[in-house]
Amino acid sequence: MKIAGKTVLITGANRGIGQALVTEALRRGASRVYAGTRQPLTHPDARVTPLSLDVTDAAQIQAAARTVGALDVLVNNAGIALYDDLSDRGSLERHLAVNLFGTYGVTQAFLPQLISGQGAIVNNVSTMPLAPFPFTPAYAISKAAAFNLTQSLRALLAGRGVRVHAVLTGPTDTDMTRDFDIPKAAPQSVARAIFDGVENEEEDIFPDPMSAAIADSWRNGAVKAMERENAAFVTAAPTAA
Ligand SMILES: NC(=O)c1ccc[n+]([C@@H]2O[C@H](COP(=O)([O-])OP(=O)(O)OC[C@H]3O[C@@H](n4cnc5c(N)ncnc54)[C@H](OP(=O)(O)O)[C@@H]3O)[C@@H](O)[C@H]2O)c1
Repeated sequence: MKIAGKTVLITGANRGIGQALVTEALRRGASRVYAGTRQPLTHPDARVTPLSLDVTDAAQIQAAARTVGALDVLVNNAGIALYDDLSDRGSLERHLAVNLFGTYGVTQAFLPQLISGQGAIVNNVSTMPLAPFPFTPAYAISKAAAFNLTQSLRALLAGRGVRVHAVLTGPTDTDMTRDFDIPKAAPQSVARAIFDGVENEEEDIFPDPMSAAIADSWRNGAVKAMERENAAFVTAAPTAA
């Protein structure tokens, strides 16, 4: 899978990692980049088509899926992260609405295009499913669910020619981590590493120095082996994902 000549859709494309992914897809020669945003967007590159796409809005998702014809790569990048201490059920529901059900809803809507194009789904998850950060537990739970969704979709869609990648992103310098005084990767380098991972067909992508430090132990570990064993139960003709 090369990004050059491909049609790519990125959610949460107006800032942070999503904005960097738009720039990187264009740099690699994507023929069309659909930039999903909640607010109107303009872009100087004619290959960019703005799409109104709040990932919690079913009508907008359906309208976007009707607008986009062929699609090779869907990047589920939109996300929220709020401080909480698990005392507020509403906070957990808000995180799940965007980070889990948003990813789920957009993916389901674009599956026909992705299957017919033998494309790829790239879910920008986090390292939090592996080790939650106790100041944002609701976020971590939603990302753990999104990671599990990614693993199941990977198994279910393999027989239909769609690759499904999880990006286990570590701290990156965006609005989301503004209040954390810790080493952070630049969104531009994270975006490069994400598309490198897609082009190199890495199932799980570790796009920054912190996450890269655990990549080998994850890929060669017992849990990854169990994921592969479980995935092998899906027959050549999987049920509808
Ligand atoms: N930064 C990190 O350290 C880090 C680490 C691990 C994973 N990630 C993940 O990387 C992704 C991008 O994060 P970021 O760091 O770039 O954060 P960011 O700068 O806060 O950007 C978040 C993006 O998501 C969009 N968004 C939020 N809710 C949305 C909704 N309901 N529908 C559509 N778009 C929505 C935002 O749009 P608006 O401008 O309209 O709000 C914005 O474009 C997220 O999934 C995040 O969880 C980030």
